[in-house]
Amino acid sequence: MSTNPLLFVNARQVVTCAGVPRGRRGAEMSAAAVRTDVAVLVQDDVVSAVDDERALRASARQATVVDCEGGVLTPGFVDSHTHAIFGRARYEEQELRATGVPYMEIARRGGGIHASVRDLRTRGEDELYALAEPRLRALAACGVTTVEVKSGYGVTVEDELKTLRVVRRLARALPMRIRATWLGAHEIPLEYRERADGRRAYLDLLMNEMLPAVARDDLAAYADVFCEPGVFTVEESREILSGARAHGLQIKLHADELTSGGGAELAGELGALSADHLAAVSDAGIGALAVHGTVATLLPGTMLFLGKTTQAPARRLIEAGVPVALATDFNPGTSPTTNFPLILTLGVSQLRLSVAEALVAGTVNGAAALGLADRVGQIAPGFSADLALWDIRDVRELPYWYGAGRCRASWARGKPCHAHDLALPFPR
Ligand code: NIG
Ligand code: FE
Repeated sequence: MSTNPLLFVNARQVVTCAGVPRGRRGAEMSAAAVRTDVAVLVQDDVVSAVDDERALRASARQATVVDCEGGVLTPGFVDSHTHAIFGRARYEEQELRATGVPYMEIARRGGGIHASVRDLRTRGEDELYALAEPRLRALAACGVTTVEVKSGYGVTVEDELKTLRVVRRLARALPMRIRATWLGAHEIPLEYRERADGRRAYLDLLMNEMLPAVARDDLAAYADVFCEPGVFTVEESREILSGARAHGLQIKLHADELTSGGGAELAGELGALSADHLAAVSDAGIGALAVHGTVATLLPGTMLFLGKTTQAPARRLIEAGVPVALATDFNPGTSPTTNFPLILTLGVSQLRLSVAEALVAGTVNGAAALGLADRVGQIAPGFSADLALWDIRDVRELPYWYGAGRCRASWARGKPCHAHDLALPFPR
Protein backbone atom coordinates (compact mmCIF):
# COMPACT_ATOMS: atom_id res chain seq x y z
CA MET A 1 0.00 0.00 0.00
CA SER A 2 1.36 3.39 -0.96
CA THR A 3 1.73 5.94 1.84
CA ASN A 4 1.77 9.72 1.71
CA PRO A 5 5.23 10.97 0.66
CA LEU A 6 7.35 12.85 3.21
CA LEU A 7 9.34 15.95 2.27
CA PHE A 8 12.21 16.82 4.64
CA VAL A 9 12.89 20.55 4.41
CA ASN A 10 14.85 23.23 6.20
CA ALA A 11 17.90 21.13 7.09
CA ARG A 12 21.04 23.26 7.45
CA GLN A 13 23.04 20.37 5.97
CA VAL A 14 22.06 17.09 4.37
CA VAL A 15 24.94 14.62 4.61
CA THR A 16 24.06 12.17 1.87
CA CYS A 17 27.12 9.87 1.74
CA ALA A 18 25.91 9.34 -1.84
CA GLY A 19 28.22 7.50 -4.20
CA VAL A 20 29.19 4.00 -5.22
CA PRO A 21 26.95 1.35 -3.62
CA ARG A 22 29.73 -0.70 -1.99
CA GLY A 23 32.30 -0.41 0.78
CA ARG A 24 34.37 2.77 0.31
CA ARG A 25 38.16 2.53 0.32
CA GLY A 26 41.06 4.93 0.60
CA ALA A 27 40.24 8.46 -0.56
CA GLU A 28 36.62 7.43 -1.26
CA MET A 29 36.10 7.50 2.50
CA SER A 30 36.82 11.24 2.58
CA ALA A 31 33.68 12.16 0.65
CA ALA A 32 30.60 12.31 2.88
CA ALA A 33 28.82 14.63 0.37
CA VAL A 34 27.59 17.45 2.61
CA ARG A 35 24.88 19.43 0.80
CA THR A 36 23.05 22.60 1.66
CA ASP A 37 19.75 23.96 0.35
CA VAL A 38 18.49 20.54 -0.57
CA ALA A 39 15.33 18.74 0.50
CA VAL A 40 14.77 15.00 0.67
CA LEU A 41 11.64 13.35 -0.71
CA VAL A 42 10.64 9.96 0.66
CA GLN A 43 8.05 7.80 -1.04
CA ASP A 44 6.96 4.67 0.81
CA ASP A 45 10.14 3.14 2.21
CA VAL A 46 12.73 4.68 -0.10
CA VAL A 47 14.29 8.03 -0.90
CA SER A 48 12.87 9.20 -4.20
CA ALA A 49 14.69 12.53 -4.64
CA VAL A 50 17.41 14.72 -3.11
CA ASP A 51 17.15 18.06 -4.82
CA ASP A 52 16.98 21.84 -4.62
CA GLU A 53 14.50 22.64 -1.86
CA ARG A 54 12.43 25.16 -3.81
CA ALA A 55 12.12 22.86 -6.79
CA LEU A 56 11.05 19.91 -4.66
CA ARG A 57 8.56 21.99 -2.67
CA ALA A 58 7.00 23.00 -5.97
CA SER A 59 6.91 19.54 -7.49
CA ALA A 60 5.91 17.53 -4.41
CA ARG A 61 2.98 19.60 -3.16
CA GLN A 62 1.06 16.57 -1.97
CA ALA A 63 3.88 15.47 0.39
CA THR A 64 3.71 15.85 4.16
CA VAL A 65 6.39 18.35 5.12
CA VAL A 66 8.85 17.49 7.91
CA ASP A 67 10.51 20.68 9.11
CA CYS A 68 14.09 19.90 10.16
CA GLU A 69 14.25 23.32 11.90
CA GLY A 70 17.80 24.06 10.80
CA GLY A 71 19.27 20.78 12.06
CA VAL A 72 21.52 18.35 10.18
CA LEU A 73 20.13 15.31 8.39
CA THR A 74 22.35 12.23 7.97
CA PRO A 75 21.75 8.68 6.82
CA GLY A 76 20.57 6.55 9.74
CA PHE A 77 23.64 4.90 11.24
CA VAL A 78 24.41 1.23 10.76
CA ASP A 79 25.61 -0.48 13.93
CA SER A 80 27.05 -3.59 12.34
CA HIS A 81 28.35 -5.27 15.52
CA THR A 82 26.37 -5.73 18.75
CA HIS A 83 25.73 -8.39 21.35
CA ALA A 84 22.46 -6.84 22.55
CA ILE A 85 20.76 -9.99 23.88
CA PHE A 86 22.05 -10.55 27.39
CA GLY A 87 20.74 -10.66 30.94
CA ARG A 88 22.41 -8.75 33.71
CA ALA A 89 25.17 -6.13 33.53
CA ARG A 90 28.76 -7.14 34.46
CA TYR A 91 29.89 -3.97 36.28
CA GLU A 92 31.94 -5.96 38.83
CA GLU A 93 34.48 -6.83 36.11
CA GLN A 94 35.25 -3.19 35.40
CA GLU A 95 36.66 -2.73 38.91
CA LEU A 96 38.55 -6.01 38.67
CA ARG A 97 40.24 -4.83 35.47
CA ALA A 98 41.06 -1.52 37.15
CA THR A 99 43.05 -3.47 39.76
CA GLY A 100 45.04 -5.14 36.99
CA VAL A 101 43.17 -8.39 36.25
CA PRO A 102 43.09 -8.76 32.45
CA TYR A 103 39.92 -9.54 30.44
CA MET A 104 41.13 -13.03 29.47
CA GLU A 105 42.09 -13.84 33.07
CA ILE A 106 38.57 -12.95 34.24
CA ALA A 107 37.28 -15.41 31.62
CA ARG A 108 39.73 -18.10 32.82
CA ARG A 109 38.26 -17.66 36.31
CA GLY A 110 34.78 -18.40 34.97
CA GLY A 111 33.68 -14.78 34.58
CA GLY A 112 33.48 -12.76 31.37
CA ILE A 113 31.42 -14.43 28.65
CA HIS A 114 30.89 -17.44 30.96
CA ALA A 115 29.13 -15.20 33.50
CA SER A 116 26.73 -13.91 30.84
CA VAL A 117 26.16 -17.49 29.66
CA ARG A 118 25.19 -18.71 33.15
CA ASP A 119 22.81 -15.75 33.42
CA LEU A 120 21.17 -15.99 30.00
CA ARG A 121 20.49 -19.69 30.39
CA THR A 122 18.23 -18.96 33.39
CA ARG A 123 16.03 -16.53 31.45
CA GLY A 124 13.06 -17.17 29.20
CA GLU A 125 12.41 -15.72 25.80
CA ASP A 126 9.90 -13.11 27.01
CA GLU A 127 12.27 -11.90 29.68
CA LEU A 128 15.16 -11.56 27.21
CA TYR A 129 12.87 -9.72 24.82
CA ALA A 130 11.83 -7.27 27.54
CA LEU A 131 15.48 -6.62 28.42
CA ALA A 132 16.63 -6.16 24.82
CA GLU A 133 13.82 -4.00 23.47
CA PRO A 134 14.73 -0.80 25.38
CA ARG A 135 18.38 -1.31 24.46
CA LEU A 136 17.54 -1.31 20.78
CA ARG A 137 15.29 1.71 21.28
CA ALA A 138 18.25 3.41 22.94
CA LEU A 139 20.30 2.72 19.81
CA ALA A 140 17.53 4.21 17.66
CA ALA A 141 17.57 7.26 19.94
CA CYS A 142 21.25 7.62 18.99
CA GLY A 143 20.45 7.69 15.27
CA VAL A 144 20.95 3.99 14.54
CA THR A 145 18.39 2.63 12.07
CA THR A 146 20.09 -0.66 11.15
CA VAL A 147 21.54 -2.95 13.79
CA GLU A 148 23.22 -6.33 13.70
CA VAL A 149 22.57 -8.47 16.79
CA LYS A 150 24.60 -11.55 17.68
CA SER A 151 23.75 -14.58 19.76
CA GLY A 152 26.58 -16.10 21.77
CA TYR A 153 25.60 -16.06 25.44
CA GLY A 154 23.68 -19.34 25.22
CA VAL A 155 26.24 -21.74 23.76
CA THR A 156 23.82 -24.67 23.87
CA VAL A 157 21.56 -25.52 20.94
CA GLU A 158 18.47 -24.57 22.89
CA ASP A 159 19.84 -21.32 24.36
CA GLU A 160 21.30 -20.11 21.06
CA LEU A 161 18.01 -20.78 19.26
CA LYS A 162 16.16 -19.01 22.08
CA THR A 163 18.41 -15.98 21.66
CA LEU A 164 17.95 -15.86 17.89
CA ARG A 165 14.18 -16.19 18.23
CA VAL A 166 14.27 -13.10 20.46
CA VAL A 167 16.15 -11.26 17.70
CA ARG A 168 13.54 -12.35 15.17
CA ARG A 169 10.70 -11.11 17.36
CA LEU A 170 12.46 -7.76 17.81
CA ALA A 171 13.00 -7.50 14.05
CA ARG A 172 9.29 -7.99 13.47
CA ALA A 173 8.19 -5.58 16.20
CA LEU A 174 10.53 -2.58 15.93
CA PRO A 175 10.76 -0.15 13.02
CA MET A 176 14.55 -0.34 12.78
CA ARG A 177 16.21 -2.92 10.51
CA ILE A 178 17.55 -5.75 12.67
CA ARG A 179 19.81 -8.48 11.27
CA ALA A 180 20.78 -11.60 13.21
CA THR A 181 24.18 -13.26 13.52
CA TRP A 182 24.76 -16.73 14.91
CA LEU A 183 27.74 -16.62 17.29
CA GLY A 184 27.51 -20.10 18.82
CA ALA A 185 31.32 -20.05 18.65
CA HIS A 186 31.65 -17.17 21.12
CA GLU A 187 33.31 -19.30 23.81
CA ILE A 188 33.90 -22.95 24.64
CA PRO A 189 31.29 -23.51 27.36
CA LEU A 190 32.76 -24.32 30.78
CA GLU A 191 31.11 -27.74 30.84
CA TYR A 192 33.09 -28.57 27.67
CA ARG A 193 36.32 -26.91 28.85
CA GLU A 194 36.30 -29.31 31.80
CA ARG A 195 36.32 -32.39 29.50
CA ALA A 196 39.48 -33.80 27.88
CA ASP A 197 37.71 -34.15 24.50
CA GLY A 198 35.64 -31.02 25.15
CA ARG A 199 36.89 -28.76 22.36
CA ARG A 200 36.21 -31.35 19.69
CA ALA A 201 32.90 -32.27 21.27
CA TYR A 202 31.73 -28.64 21.27
CA LEU A 203 32.85 -28.18 17.68
CA ASP A 204 30.85 -31.26 16.73
CA LEU A 205 27.82 -29.84 18.52
CA LEU A 206 28.22 -26.55 16.63
CA MET A 207 28.62 -28.23 13.25
CA ASN A 208 26.24 -31.15 13.52
CA GLU A 209 23.40 -29.80 15.63
CA MET A 210 23.43 -26.07 16.30
CA LEU A 211 24.26 -24.75 12.84
CA PRO A 212 21.80 -27.04 11.01
CA ALA A 213 19.05 -25.97 13.45
CA VAL A 214 19.82 -22.26 12.97
CA ALA A 215 19.78 -22.70 9.20
CA ARG A 216 16.64 -24.85 9.23
CA ASP A 217 14.68 -22.19 11.13
CA ASP A 218 16.27 -19.39 9.07
CA LEU A 219 17.26 -17.64 12.29
CA ALA A 220 20.41 -15.83 11.15
CA ALA A 221 21.83 -14.14 8.06
CA TYR A 222 25.45 -14.26 9.27
CA ALA A 223 27.80 -16.48 11.25
CA ASP A 224 30.60 -15.14 13.45
CA VAL A 225 33.39 -16.76 15.52
CA PHE A 226 35.50 -15.34 18.36
CA CYS A 227 38.80 -16.24 16.69
CA GLU A 228 41.41 -15.43 19.33
CA PRO A 229 44.23 -17.31 21.07
CA GLY A 230 42.59 -18.95 24.10
CA VAL A 231 39.16 -19.09 22.49
CA PHE A 232 38.74 -20.52 18.95
CA THR A 233 41.87 -21.22 16.89
CA VAL A 234 42.23 -20.22 13.24
CA GLU A 235 41.76 -23.87 12.18
CA GLU A 236 38.61 -24.25 14.28
CA SER A 237 37.26 -20.94 12.99
CA ARG A 238 37.89 -22.02 9.40
CA GLU A 239 35.96 -25.24 9.97
CA ILE A 240 32.99 -23.51 11.62
CA LEU A 241 32.76 -20.67 9.12
CA SER A 242 33.15 -22.94 6.09
CA GLY A 243 30.30 -25.04 7.47
CA ALA A 244 28.20 -21.93 8.04
CA ARG A 245 28.81 -20.79 4.48
CA ALA A 246 27.71 -24.20 3.18
CA HIS A 247 24.44 -23.58 5.06
CA GLY A 248 23.98 -20.25 3.26
CA LEU A 249 25.15 -17.90 6.02
CA GLN A 250 27.43 -14.95 5.31
CA ILE A 251 30.66 -14.77 7.27
CA LYS A 252 32.02 -12.37 9.89
CA LEU A 253 34.83 -12.81 12.43
CA HIS A 254 36.01 -11.40 15.73
CA ALA A 255 39.64 -11.23 14.67
CA ASP A 256 42.87 -10.13 16.35
CA GLU A 257 41.01 -8.35 19.15
CA LEU A 258 43.66 -8.71 21.85
CA THR A 259 46.46 -10.78 20.29
CA SER A 260 47.62 -11.16 16.71
CA GLY A 261 46.67 -14.70 15.77
CA GLY A 262 45.95 -14.89 12.05
CA GLY A 263 42.25 -13.95 12.30
CA ALA A 264 42.39 -11.22 9.66
CA GLU A 265 44.33 -13.51 7.33
CA LEU A 266 41.56 -16.08 7.70
CA ALA A 267 38.87 -13.46 7.08
CA GLY A 268 40.58 -12.55 3.81
CA GLU A 269 41.10 -16.18 2.83
CA LEU A 270 37.40 -16.94 3.37
CA GLY A 271 36.27 -13.72 1.69
CA ALA A 272 34.39 -12.74 4.86
CA LEU A 273 32.05 -9.73 4.78
CA SER A 274 33.91 -8.26 7.73
CA ALA A 275 36.73 -8.80 10.21
CA ASP A 276 35.96 -7.05 13.47
CA HIS A 277 38.14 -5.49 16.24
CA LEU A 278 41.64 -5.86 14.67
CA ALA A 279 43.45 -3.95 17.43
CA ALA A 280 46.30 -6.47 17.07
CA VAL A 281 46.09 -7.07 13.30
CA SER A 282 49.37 -7.99 11.51
CA ASP A 283 50.63 -6.43 8.28
CA ALA A 284 49.85 -9.70 6.49
CA GLY A 285 46.32 -9.51 7.90
CA ILE A 286 45.86 -5.97 6.58
CA GLY A 287 47.07 -7.15 3.16
CA ALA A 288 44.64 -10.07 3.14
CA LEU A 289 41.67 -7.81 3.98
CA ALA A 290 42.67 -5.36 1.23
CA VAL A 291 42.99 -8.05 -1.43
CA HIS A 292 39.60 -9.57 -0.67
CA GLY A 293 37.66 -6.35 0.01
CA THR A 294 36.70 -7.51 3.51
CA VAL A 295 35.43 -4.65 5.67
CA ALA A 296 37.47 -3.88 8.79
CA THR A 297 34.92 -3.13 11.49
CA LEU A 298 36.65 -1.13 14.20
CA LEU A 299 35.23 -0.93 17.71
CA PRO A 300 37.14 1.80 19.56
CA GLY A 301 34.68 1.81 22.48
CA THR A 302 35.86 -1.66 23.42
CA MET A 303 39.52 -0.72 23.70
CA LEU A 304 38.58 2.41 25.63
CA PHE A 305 36.36 0.53 28.08
CA LEU A 306 38.93 -2.24 28.60
CA GLY A 307 41.44 0.44 29.54
CA LYS A 308 43.77 -0.35 26.64
CA THR A 309 46.13 2.28 25.34
CA THR A 310 46.23 0.73 21.86
CA GLN A 311 43.64 0.97 19.12
CA ALA A 312 43.27 -0.69 15.73
CA PRO A 313 45.58 0.83 13.06
CA ALA A 314 42.78 2.62 11.22
CA ARG A 315 45.03 4.87 9.16
CA ARG A 316 47.14 1.97 7.95
CA LEU A 317 44.00 0.03 7.07
CA ILE A 318 42.64 2.95 5.04
CA GLU A 319 45.97 3.53 3.34
CA ALA A 320 46.09 -0.16 2.39
CA GLY A 321 42.66 0.19 0.72
CA VAL A 322 40.60 -1.70 3.30
CA PRO A 323 37.04 -0.34 3.75
CA VAL A 324 36.77 0.68 7.42
CA ALA A 325 33.48 0.61 9.39
CA LEU A 326 32.77 1.78 12.94
CA ALA A 327 30.39 0.05 15.36
CA THR A 328 29.59 0.00 19.07
CA ASP A 329 30.23 -3.69 19.94
CA PHE A 330 27.44 -3.04 22.45
CA ASN A 331 27.77 -5.87 25.01
CA PRO A 332 27.81 -6.30 28.82
CA GLY A 333 31.52 -7.15 29.11
CA THR A 334 33.65 -4.92 26.93
CA SER A 335 31.44 -2.13 25.54
CA PRO A 336 28.25 -1.34 27.43
CA THR A 337 27.25 1.65 25.31
CA THR A 338 24.52 2.35 22.78
CA ASN A 339 25.93 5.81 22.04
CA PHE A 340 26.80 5.63 18.36
CA PRO A 341 27.91 9.28 18.03
CA LEU A 342 30.39 8.64 20.87
CA ILE A 343 31.91 5.92 18.69
CA LEU A 344 32.30 8.54 15.94
CA THR A 345 34.08 10.74 18.47
CA LEU A 346 36.49 7.91 19.27
CA GLY A 347 36.88 7.29 15.56
CA VAL A 348 38.19 10.82 15.15
CA SER A 349 40.13 11.27 18.39
CA GLN A 350 41.53 7.75 18.87
CA LEU A 351 41.59 6.25 15.38
CA ARG A 352 42.48 9.56 13.71
CA LEU A 353 39.76 9.48 11.11
CA SER A 354 38.47 12.67 9.57
CA VAL A 355 34.83 13.47 10.31
CA ALA A 356 33.91 12.48 6.74
CA GLU A 357 35.72 9.15 7.13
CA ALA A 358 33.96 8.49 10.43
CA LEU A 359 30.57 9.27 8.85
CA VAL A 360 31.21 6.95 5.90
CA ALA A 361 32.46 4.30 8.34
CA GLY A 362 29.20 4.55 10.31
CA THR A 363 26.90 4.43 7.29
CA VAL A 364 27.99 3.07 3.88
CA ASN A 365 30.80 0.88 5.23
CA GLY A 366 28.66 -0.41 8.11
CA ALA A 367 26.09 -1.40 5.50
CA ALA A 368 28.86 -3.08 3.47
CA ALA A 369 29.84 -5.06 6.58
CA LEU A 370 26.30 -6.49 6.45
CA GLY A 371 26.17 -6.94 2.68
CA LEU A 372 23.56 -4.16 2.43
CA ALA A 373 25.54 -1.36 0.77
CA ASP A 374 23.42 -1.50 -2.39
CA ARG A 375 20.36 -0.21 -0.50
CA VAL A 376 21.38 1.12 2.93
CA GLY A 377 23.70 3.87 4.19
CA GLN A 378 23.11 6.69 1.69
CA ILE A 379 20.50 9.41 1.30
CA ALA A 380 20.14 8.83 -2.42
CA PRO A 381 17.32 7.92 -4.80
CA GLY A 382 16.40 4.25 -4.51
CA PHE A 383 18.05 3.81 -1.11
CA SER A 384 16.09 2.84 1.97
CA ALA A 385 14.63 5.93 3.66
CA ASP A 386 16.79 5.60 6.79
CA LEU A 387 17.43 9.05 8.23
CA ALA A 388 18.63 10.69 11.42
CA LEU A 389 18.04 14.33 12.34
CA TRP A 390 20.51 16.05 14.68
CA ASP A 391 20.27 19.15 16.81
CA ILE A 392 23.46 20.69 15.44
CA ARG A 393 24.27 23.24 12.73
CA ASP A 394 27.35 21.61 11.22
CA VAL A 395 27.96 17.87 10.98
CA ARG A 396 31.40 18.31 12.53
CA GLU A 397 29.55 18.99 15.78
CA LEU A 398 28.35 15.39 15.85
CA PRO A 399 31.66 13.88 17.06
CA TYR A 400 32.57 17.15 18.80
CA TRP A 401 29.91 17.29 21.56
CA TYR A 402 31.10 13.98 22.86
CA GLY A 403 28.73 11.81 24.80
CA ALA A 404 25.84 14.18 24.06
CA GLY A 405 22.42 13.02 22.91
CA ARG A 406 21.66 15.25 19.99
CA CYS A 407 19.51 12.97 17.88
CA ARG A 408 16.10 14.60 17.50
CA ALA A 409 14.49 11.87 15.43
CA SER A 410 15.24 8.89 13.26
CA TRP A 411 13.36 7.04 10.52
CA ALA A 412 13.89 3.56 9.11
CA ARG A 413 12.29 2.64 5.78
CA GLY A 414 10.39 5.94 6.03
CA LYS A 415 8.85 4.99 9.40
CA PRO A 416 9.66 6.84 12.62
CA CYS A 417 12.11 4.96 14.85
CA HIS A 418 12.59 7.61 17.46
CA ALA A 419 11.28 11.12 18.08
CA HIS A 420 12.68 13.36 20.79
CA ASP A 421 11.39 16.91 20.80
CA LEU A 422 10.49 17.74 17.25
CA ALA A 423 6.97 18.66 16.20
CA LEU A 424 6.83 15.80 13.76
CA PRO A 425 3.78 15.06 11.68
CA PHE A 426 3.21 11.57 13.01
CA PRO A 427 1.97 10.06 16.25
CA ARG A 428 4.71 9.58 18.87
O1 NIG B 1 33.35 -8.25 21.09
N1 NIG B 1 35.27 -10.60 22.17
C1 NIG B 1 34.25 -11.25 22.19
N2 NIG B 1 33.06 -10.77 22.39
C2 NIG B 1 32.76 -9.50 22.93
C3 NIG B 1 32.84 -9.46 24.40
C4 NIG B 1 31.86 -10.35 25.03
C5 NIG B 1 31.79 -10.23 26.52
O2 NIG B 1 32.78 -9.97 27.23
O3 NIG B 1 30.67 -10.44 27.01
C6 NIG B 1 33.59 -8.44 22.24
O4 NIG B 1 34.46 -7.80 22.86
FE1 FE C 1 31.98 -8.28 19.72
